[in-house]
Amino acid sequence: MNGCARNRRTTGFNMHDLVIRNVEILDGTGAEPFAAEVAVEDGQIVQVGDVAAGRRELDGGGAVLAPGFIDTHAHDDGAFFRHPGMEFKLAQGVTTVVSGNCGFSAIPADPEQDSVAASGGILAGLEGRFTDLDGYFEAVAARAPAINNMMLVGHNTVRSLVMGDARRQPSGTELAAMRGHVRRAMEQGAAGFSSGLIYRPGRYSETDEVVELAREAAAFEALYTTHMRNEGDRLLEAVDEALLIGRESGAHLHISHHKAAGRGNWGKVADSLAKVDAALRAGQPVTLDVYPYTAGSGRMIEYFNLDNPNEELAEVIRIASCPAFREFEGRMLVDIAGEQGWGLADAVRHILTADKGDRTICIHFIIDEADIETNLAYRDMMVGSDGIPDLRGRPHPRLFGTFPRVLGRYVRERRVLSLTEAVRRMTSVAARTFGMQRRGEIKPGYFADLVLFRPAEVIDEATYDDPKREPTGIDAVLVNGEIAYRQGRHTGAGSGRMLRFRR
Ligand code: CU
Ligand code: ZN
Repeated sequence: MNGCARNRRTTGFNMHDLVIRNVEILDGTGAEPFAAEVAVEDGQIVQVGDVAAGRRELDGGGAVLAPGFIDTHAHDDGAFFRHPGMEFKLAQGVTTVVSGNCGFSAIPADPEQDSVAASGGILAGLEGRFTDLDGYFEAVAARAPAINNMMLVGHNTVRSLVMGDARRQPSGTELAAMRGHVRRAMEQGAAGFSSGLIYRPGRYSETDEVVELAREAAAFEALYTTHMRNEGDRLLEAVDEALLIGRESGAHLHISHHKAAGRGNWGKVADSLAKVDAALRAGQPVTLDVYPYTAGSGRMIEYFNLDNPNEELAEVIRIASCPAFREFEGRMLVDIAGEQGWGLADAVRHILTADKGDRTICIHFIIDEADIETNLAYRDMMVGSDGIPDLRGRPHPRLFGTFPRVLGRYVRERRVLSLTEAVRRMTSVAARTFGMQRRGEIKPGYFADLVLFRPAEVIDEATYDDPKREPTGIDAVLVNGEIAYRQGRHTGAGSGRMLRFRR
């Protein structure tokens, strides 16, 4: 290729599709940054070094060029239909998401059943009459989405499909049917099986059921990812259960949004990580992800017992989106209660029992800042936004800000980890863990998913009050070789692909 560089420059034939110059490359492997040029052809990186002319050239202005970031924890199953431009992820430098988390996934689906309602709206946006992963991928690809999508198959979804909301153990036939759904998703390229054991109906399952289903992922050397049964008072017991499920099933365990919820539990993440360390020493594959915020977010009805609402939790609740009372969006529950003359418990009941009240998404301030740093300092800790892509209310700012926040706040300002290390976790570590072939590094033969950013400036702009602001310091994002985002503008390239585990 180098041999004919001169010829190419003069004749214009066989020029590279795109050349990126004037950048410092952080290649995602953990190697220190180096100056080089990158040539892209047919969506792939073909050369890194001193490269010949391109039909298009991008001057990086001395910024850092890294592999596109991988959001290991997304709920974008429906967003790919409703927002195929995926602006909230793309503007952060995210080029690939892993959807289907916390036990809720677009697939399997029965067109006669409402999986969006069963997920409490987490899957909102789904369209089309697909039933399986192939069908879902085909429907999404037809929308020409801006970024790549990889999928997990969710326990809650599978269980609802087979058993409805039954509060009991599955029969042999039901378990076989559930295993069949998980196996089919794995055959079609899911990266693993996800659970959300805090949510209905997953919370009705015993450990054995989850082990049996995770075995189907293990057969493909894929993952068992989990929103554990408890992230608060019983966090450590829940970690033990997750480790047991990983061991018994043989699946690689991935713990989602690792945290210790509730003031009385702050600091416990260190104990939880010690358990993970012990498992790793014993040879068990375990990985984790975290989001860089002190608040969680989810379907409000899942966190409260309406007979006796937890007032300590109610005190730290903020309403994100609420189809029943749009005027409450963006406000703390305590303020709403005070204004309406309701007690806190009544406020919870009022909102959740209203028509469509069960679709309320809340934000709850339950996490200690120090625990976030403990998590981010932990080896191989990946980053997952856990963003819920409901743009109508005031979503948790993690939807728009997660990756720039890690790079700006935790790398540059707080120095919890180095830039090189943060990028490695957001790229090659995530790609390897989730079986994304030829992604996550800047290397010839790899797909040209790339982000150009300025380390001295990159920062999140989304706040709880103003959560839909795109970050600063992300100059350009390329997805499969196409410029998808440049200087604050979404180009509509639509070059995202559907990714299948290790294919
Ligand atoms: Cu989640
Ligand atoms: Zn979750």
